[in-house]
Amino acid sequence: MRLSQCHNFHDFRTLAKKRLPGPIFDYIDGAADDEGTYRRNSEAFGDVDLVPSVLAGVQDIDLSVEVMGQKLALPVYCSPTALQRLFHHDGENAVAAAAAEYGTMFGVSSLGTTSLAEVRRKYDNPQCYQFYFHKDRGLNRAMMESAKEAGVEVMMLTVDSITGGNRERDLRTGFSIPFRLTLGGMIEFARKPMWGINYVTHEKFALPQLDDHVDMSGGALSIGRYFTEMLDPSMTWDDVAEMVEFWGGQYCLKGIMSAADARRAVDIGCTGIVLSNHGGRQLDGSRSAFDQLGEIVDAVGDEIDVMMDGGVQRGTHILKALSMGAKAVGIGRGYLYPLAAAGQPGVERALGLMKAELERDMRLMGCRNIGELSRDNLRFRDAPRDRPRSA
Ligand code: FNR
Ligand code: LAC
Repeated sequence: MRLSQCHNFHDFRTLAKKRLPGPIFDYIDGAADDEGTYRRNSEAFGDVDLVPSVLAGVQDIDLSVEVMGQKLALPVYCSPTALQRLFHHDGENAVAAAAAEYGTMFGVSSLGTTSLAEVRRKYDNPQCYQFYFHKDRGLNRAMMESAKEAGVEVMMLTVDSITGGNRERDLRTGFSIPFRLTLGGMIEFARKPMWGINYVTHEKFALPQLDDHVDMSGGALSIGRYFTEMLDPSMTWDDVAEMVEFWGGQYCLKGIMSAADARRAVDIGCTGIVLSNHGGRQLDGSRSAFDQLGEIVDAVGDEIDVMMDGGVQRGTHILKALSMGAKAVGIGRGYLYPLAAAGQPGVERALGLMKAELERDMRLMGCRNIGELSRDNLRFRDAPRDRPRSA
């Protein structure tokens, strides 16, 4: 299979699986416990149908949105994810360049493998910095200050990872940084020699957001251990309120799921929230963001920018979320598989296909701009009482 044969999410996933050593593919592809939330994230979109309008004069389609003070040419952005240079040697540079090409937002993760200052300097798209709250308060301030200096527009604090999710695929393969592979894991790496050649012939692996502050050389840092040992489970709303004030700009919380928490985010001065269950990688059994979206938009949608991520594979998924009231929608695996499959051209192809899908679907829906999407365009099949049928 080649890049030109990739026409959708599943095709990119297949090609990524072919290229990546099994333990790395499983790190991306896996989720917590029984992976039920992960599956539901995509299935949730199937419970609502689109009701198109016709003959609406849909020659010109405007897909742009304004969110968190940023103008995005597309209503979909690349949500921050960790360790991208393990997936392809160009890592964050490939994703940021592709996002810039399509005029949309990209976020560098605290566990990013390229420095946020480098990414900010090179690409002119809106950028956010995904932040984890560490036990070391000095480290938190230093990280925020370097983001400020770099000129990053949006701070995105992830709040659903107060401790590590139970990723059993990673336990089986021994996936950690640096690698501490099980025998089975090692055999999987040996089966993908091209990946190994690329890995050793490109820039040495690093976590520049943390390197200055943390000695990673001493032992394996599994993702689970990073969460349990370095992040601060005692973090409260007061800590976040202080950070919001210190940042003094666009600040959003990623991983809000309840209306009460959304209200607290408004109260402490956040300018946005991302409904998210971290791609099903944290609390299995947690509700999908799309299932929960209507309730949150009804509660705080007039006061704060509500975004969502999780399970998005199609343009129509995005149109459904926007119709429910989301201001923009994030993708994770939707650009990570293309990155792993083919680097920057892979991510560009994925975003290009998504843009074409969105334009086509908007025309078929009879909507010329994102503002014309509303709950009138949606019908839930079973219409349970807690889900509004239409506005
Ligand atoms: C993530 N995600 C994530 N989120 C975050 O806040 N910081 C991070 O470092 C990461 N790292 C990460 C790595 C990998 C491999 C994945 C798949 C995801 C979560 C990500 O930002 C987003 O919330 C989900 O990926 C959205 O779900 P989908 O689109 O992958 O279904
Ligand atoms: C993950 C972390 C790093 O989901 O957010 O793997």
